[in-house]
Amino acid sequence: MQIIEWSSDFALGIAEIDDQHRALVGMINALDASTHADYSAEGMRKMLDELNAYVRDHFAFEERLMAGGGCTQELVTRHTAEHAYFRSVLRDLTADFERGYAGITVTLIEYLVHWLLHHIVVVDRAMSQQLNAADPELAARVAAALATTMVDDLTDSERHLLNELRRANEQLERLVHERTKALNERNGKLEAELGEARAEVQRLRLQLAGRGVAG
Ligand SMILES: [Fe+2]
Repeated sequence: MQIIEWSSDFALGIAEIDDQHRALVGMINALDASTHADYSAEGMRKMLDELNAYVRDHFAFEERLMAGGGCTQELVTRHTAEHAYFRSVLRDLTADFERGYAGITVTLIEYLVHWLLHHIVVVDRAMSQQLNAADPELAARVAAALATTMVDDLTDSERHLLNELRRANEQLERLVHERTKALNERNGKLEAELGEARAEVQRLRLQLAGRGVAG
């Protein structure tokens, strides 16, 4: 039995963030499972390290999204503060575990679960609503990232987002190219027809002139 069951109620409509939240839920479930069975200090340390790294990257991803514009300063401040708080909880927890001061208890895991779910449905949801309302800005920010060294620092999810954007741009360019080509072909055909019509007029004029001369 898992301590959290992922539900569509937690989905925010930004695919990358939903995927990352689902991964976080999976990691917390794995942490919980390891307190019941197959416990090993080494395995637990590995999980905590992974969770710390994942949380750091995930929060950084959300903060970069907000930095692109579209969110109120009030929300940015609150959101960033909540992230800092949770990072410090995880850091302390990991440090205590490494010093052998505390085990990972069910109560502690329940706390992580409640914090995460509350954060997702309140603060992350507010962020996604504000970002979705300002979608063109988000798209512009992602597009701008294509041209900067930021690309080197991107997470896999951001890279995925950029690849999607690149694909969409390429498709658009292909479409414009095809339409231009079709228009050029049509223009070429019209010019050829016009050329033929001019030649015909010229031929008729010559014929008339010939008759005039003959008559
Ligand atoms: Fe968040």
